[in-house]
Amino acid sequence: MARILIVYDSRTGNTEKLAYAVANGVRRVSGVEVILKKARDVTPEDVAGADAYAFGSPSHFGIMSGEILTMFTNIYPHRHTLAGKPACIFTTGAGSQVIALENIERILGTFNPKWIKPGIAVEGAPKEKDIEQAEELGEKLAKAALSK
Ligand SMILES: Cc1cc2nc3c(=O)[nH]c(=O)nc-3n(C[C@H](O)[C@H](O)[C@H](O)COP(=O)(O)O)c2cc1C
Repeated sequence: MARILIVYDSRTGNTEKLAYAVANGVRRVSGVEVILKKARDVTPEDVAGADAYAFGSPSHFGIMSGEILTMFTNIYPHRHTLAGKPACIFTTGAGSQVIALENIERILGTFNPKWIKPGIAVEGAPKEKDIEQAEELGEKLAKAALSK
């Protein structure tokens, strides 16, 4: 059984919708367990116990949200528990979602994950095609976790 940790921050629900869609995509694959957590609730044990990861953030001031940055800062001392494992990222924004995605890519890159790309950057509330894309990303992540 592979454990997939999906971590997100969301104030108005846009990023949360993508997080749920990634989770639904993961659930298309058998032999995986999904753990969906808000960034502020994530512990180093959650990170160490997972086999793959998805991180989602709204764009705040053009970069990842403070909650997501704090979470990365907190787990940084435990980054070796994430290194080499599959990870993907997703963002929403009002125009700066791609910049926020690149920002997370740079920070999470210091943890040396096995990237599952491309990530998803959605403007505004996710539409049906964005939900489908997020589900596909979740499915790809789950398959990568199982093929380790
Ligand atoms: C404090 C704050 C700062 C924001 N700054 C930006 C920004 O610089 N660029 C941008 O594209 N969107 C910005 N936004 C808009 C959000 O990224 C966008 O509405 C996002 O989809 C919200 O996601 P959520 O519903 O998951 O919270 C900001 C929102 C907030 C609350």
